[in-house]
Amino acid sequence: MRKQVLKWKQKGLSVALIPTMGFFHEGHLSLMRAAGSKADHVVVSLFINPAQFGPNEDLNHYPRDLEQDARLAEDKGVSCLFCPDAKDMYPPGFQTWVRVEGVSQGLCGTSRPEHFCGVATIVAKLLIIVQPDMAIFGQKDFQQLQVIRRMVRDLNIPVNIIAHPIVREPDGLAMSSRNIYLDAQEREPALSLVQALRLAEKMVAQGNRSGPEVIQAIKNHIQSFSNTKTDYVFLGDPESLKPRREIVGETLLALAVWVGKTRLIDNILLKQ
Ligand code: PAJ
Repeated sequence: MRKQVLKWKQKGLSVALIPTMGFFHEGHLSLMRAAGSKADHVVVSLFINPAQFGPNEDLNHYPRDLEQDARLAEDKGVSCLFCPDAKDMYPPGFQTWVRVEGVSQGLCGTSRPEHFCGVATIVAKLLIIVQPDMAIFGQKDFQQLQVIRRMVRDLNIPVNIIAHPIVREPDGLAMSSRNIYLDAQEREPALSLVQALRLAEKMVAQGNRSGPEVIQAIKNHIQSFSNTKTDYVFLGDPESLKPRREIVGETLLALAVWVGKTRLIDNILLKQ
């Protein structure tokens, strides 16, 4: 990987990295398209990172289809699909972890305490291996994006982090590799997330600035569907991820909801 990137760089060509765990959907493809318009070469990494899955999470069932992913990446003009093995990324004796403190806490960090340490460590490794000029991340995983931005700043990693907007299904459901877990009856309750975000947007547009009121309305909406359980509803500062009681300026609204056995996340930036 290093040799290839060095060859490109010696010719003065720019490189964009898109880290992924594969099972590509339109969200991933849209990141590839954006990268292609910004850099001469696009590297997509595909690695289902064991370190970011908790003991009772879906590591062993995480969907995979390498052949299809390779075809889709090639169609999008990706120069290199980098698929390292777990034994090469975490060889025996591995003992170095990247832990980003404040922004990894709260939101998804509450129910997934080791998750962002696994994410930060693998993304740091990928950035050091590939040494891209830029790396692109989706806003769908908003907290992940902020953890990576913080890490890059704190460790002086010379890369430009680019955020890409959330790509949705026609019915509004945020695209995710995990949507494949949803059965026909779970599709409707899965829409409660985007509906709740839009409800909040409407409340704010009508002048409501009360965080607790907006959060309660969201919880009520989600609860009105069968088979749903709210993990968290968060309102706060988009950069520090500190909670806010009042909706002032640009405010992040993020939520995680269990639909049956599938945990879905979504978010929106509320603007006054
Ligand atoms: P993965 O879930 O495969 O996502 C790869 C990238 O695609 C992430 O930046 C994610 O935010 C983005 N993405 C996923 N769904 C999206 C959507 N609907 N709209 C826009 N972007 C979307 O996120 C990971 O993998 C891993 O944690 C990783 C960063 C690769 C580290 O292992």
